Amino acid sequence: MSAVKVLNLGCGYQTSDRCINIDWSIPVRLKGSRIGRRIAPLLLTGDRLAGFEELSDNVMRHDLRKGIPFPDGSVDAVYHSHVLEHLDRDVVPGFLAEVHRVLRPGGIHRIVVPDLEAQARAYLETLDGALVGATEPTAHEESVHVLIEQMVRREAWGTSTRRPVRRWLENRLLGDARSRGETHQWMWDRVSLPHELEVAGFHDPRVLSNTESQIPDWSSYLLDETPEGEEYKPGSMYVEATR
Ligand SMILES: C[S@@+](CC[C@H](N)C(=O)[O-])C[C@H]1O[C@@H](n2cnc3c(N)ncnc32)[C@H](O)[C@@H]1O
Repeated sequence: MSAVKVLNLGCGYQTSDRCINIDWSIPVRLKGSRIGRRIAPLLLTGDRLAGFEELSDNVMRHDLRKGIPFPDGSVDAVYHSHVLEHLDRDVVPGFLAEVHRVLRPGGIHRIVVPDLEAQARAYLETLDGALVGATEPTAHEESVHVLIEQMVRREAWGTSTRRPVRRWLENRLLGDARSRGETHQWMWDRVSLPHELEVAGFHDPRVLSNTESQIPDWSSYLLDETPEGEEYKPGSMYVEATR
């Protein structure tokens, strides 16, 4: 662990040895208990089981709806990637206030979200192209899919391809996509997110690239770029602000 204390909230499978990684997903909870590790192969199949087996042990199990489990001003940086858009719009101010509370003065808040502007521009481009016959209908359909599918999805990813009994059970026991936190509840762009951060009391919000950061030696965290130097989540917007 680095001397700089960095939290990676809602880490999922995207963990870093240099961070305190925190998540509350079902795989993380199963991995954290002996019984969970034994029953996981019975509950999970295919990609989900493979993901579970690769999941780092270096993840703190915690439900962020209960706040961030650190004292006031005790953290140097807080990072979260593709988490904010899953929060209900009216929950966001409380979440940002928690990040503000745990950061030390001068600490960095780094946020990665899907870029609403990029998605909307891509949609308009395929629309314009379709009107003059220069865009394949499938490309236009895909741009609509990117924009709205994750907002309106009902059945959780993967569940719809299960065998009938398992599919029924998963839907009954685990709920739909929204109740499992899979859906996008809001989307952010280079105007709305910096504004929201300022309202929450953060200073100097800036849109950066995946490799730029005020967190020292950010590329070594391997959270926004692969070891080969590729961007992990193309189409993302990267915003930092200071406490
Ligand atoms: C879309 S995934 C993003 C995962 C990862 N940060 C990435 O960029 O690939 C959202 C993550 O937020 C986590 N999450 C959602 N609500 C949470 C909560 N209340 N407490 C902790 N983690 C939560 C989910 O379990 C999931 O791993």
